[in-house]
Amino acid sequence: MEHETRPTPILYANDIRARLRTGRFRVCVVGIGRIGLPTALSFARSGIKVTGLDINESLISKIRSSDFPLDDEPGCRDIFESVYPRGMLSVTDDPAEAIPNADMVLLSLPTPMDAFGNPHYTALESVASQLNSLLALGSVVVVESTVEPNFVESEMAPLIEGDSSRLKVSENFGLGVCPETANPGQILDDFGSLPRLVGAMDERTAEIISEVYGHVFPVELVRMPDCRTANAVKLTTNVFRDVNIAFVNELAILFERLGIDVNIVLEAAKRKYNFEPHYPGAGVGGPCLPVNSYQMLNVASRIAGGSSLLGMVRAGRRANEFMPSHVVDLLYDGLREAGSTDGALTVALLGVSYKPNVRDVQLAPSGEIARLLRSRNVDIKIYDPHYAGDMVFGARVGGSAAEIMRGVDAAVLVTAHDELRVLEARAIRESGCRVIVDCCGAIDPAAAVTAGLVYRGVGRGAGSTDAGGDDVGAHSS
Ligand SMILES: NC(=O)c1ccc[n+]([C@@H]2O[C@H](COP(=O)([O-])OP(=O)(O)OC[C@H]3O[C@@H](n4cnc5c(N)ncnc54)[C@H](O)[C@@H]3O)[C@@H](O)[C@H]2O)c1
Repeated sequence: MEHETRPTPILYANDIRARLRTGRFRVCVVGIGRIGLPTALSFARSGIKVTGLDINESLISKIRSSDFPLDDEPGCRDIFESVYPRGMLSVTDDPAEAIPNADMVLLSLPTPMDAFGNPHYTALESVASQLNSLLALGSVVVVESTVEPNFVESEMAPLIEGDSSRLKVSENFGLGVCPETANPGQILDDFGSLPRLVGAMDERTAEIISEVYGHVFPVELVRMPDCRTANAVKLTTNVFRDVNIAFVNELAILFERLGIDVNIVLEAAKRKYNFEPHYPGAGVGGPCLPVNSYQMLNVASRIAGGSSLLGMVRAGRRANEFMPSHVVDLLYDGLREAGSTDGALTVALLGVSYKPNVRDVQLAPSGEIARLLRSRNVDIKIYDPHYAGDMVFGARVGGSAAEIMRGVDAAVLVTAHDELRVLEARAIRESGCRVIVDCCGAIDPAAAVTAGLVYRGVGRGAGSTDAGGDDVGAHSS
């Protein structure tokens, strides 16, 4: 195989610069999903030949037939249509085809958790074991996935080195991290504006990563002393958000009972220079925030006395995980006011992605709301413009909001995609729906009441005609 006969090229930043200039630098992106595919496209656009490697065969065949799979990422299709026909990007599901020929291997693999909050690194571990036999000597491995501090040093490095003496980190291959921080729905914008953190197990590797990423992304590259510090920064930014959202979610429940509108409070509070607003909602989902908090808790639990640390993060998780149940409480409170709690109920869930304007239901609060409602024998209808016609949470997603609201007892606006943000209270009432629960502050409570709806909103105490009902905001976490 090519990688066995190739001499050990210990490259330095200068050599890399020359290779980049002459188009002789090759990259393999392992995992071409939400983050990996835009990454591969960005590298290809900068003149680097990229191979995307993924185990998802249907994704590979979609891309091979030029059927671009990531339409909710603005700008990506255009790059794809420019680089793919020119052969700057190729895709495969065969590691032996992709890895040995790469000067740099980027790992953009999923790092999910199980139902108990235990992080799972199986994809990274399995690819690290493949790298052990396939990685070309002299190449550099960059972990872009979000991992716990010390994971790269104590798990990835030994797995890539394996039992044989072929590979030795920092001697004949480099290992570093460049944690991804882009936001779904605006990934290319973020690639072009957010600073990137670079950490590595040795100085030469850090320089190479900086050289290559500097060639691709016009952003500041922030050098970290090591991999663990870079990963700690990545987790810190997301745990900060998770904890702050938990804080406003708890305020939201309190304010509902006090007849205060949390939106008015936050709008006024953010005029103070050192207040950074976060917004309440149906909970916190997606592949990052909830997982990242559990990763931080997990790393703490593995050090002596660490399980007593980060109590605030644990409490924040509990507060955010309680929100779907609170939304169901709000819904039943509204149904009681409308006199609709008897008999079979049908409820429409509007917007099921975990955040607006993206197609992604990973750990979305809507899933837990659906589960809680079904446990009460409620019939569920779903509309989400990003899933029209698909099956989500066991229901066929309708073709429009108006269609699925026809004849329902209540609707819950879980995630306000742009199309749903402009829903008018009058139109909701005219569909026959009597109760609206707004989880995202998108519907004007006064307009809803004027239209004849019973209104409940997360944190919208002033909108409720009966704030403080017995089980409204019963915080059981
Ligand atoms: N999505 C985000 O918002 C976001 C933002 C920043 C960072 N991240 C981090 O980036 C990483 C990737 O996340 P994502 O959202 O792109 O995940 P994703 O699930 O969209 O993509 C991961 C891809 O890896 C592939 N894959 C899984 N196992 C594989 C294997 N053994 N070999 C080859 N391919 C394999 C999957 O088929 C999938 O296409 C995660 O660590 C995540 O935490 C995600």
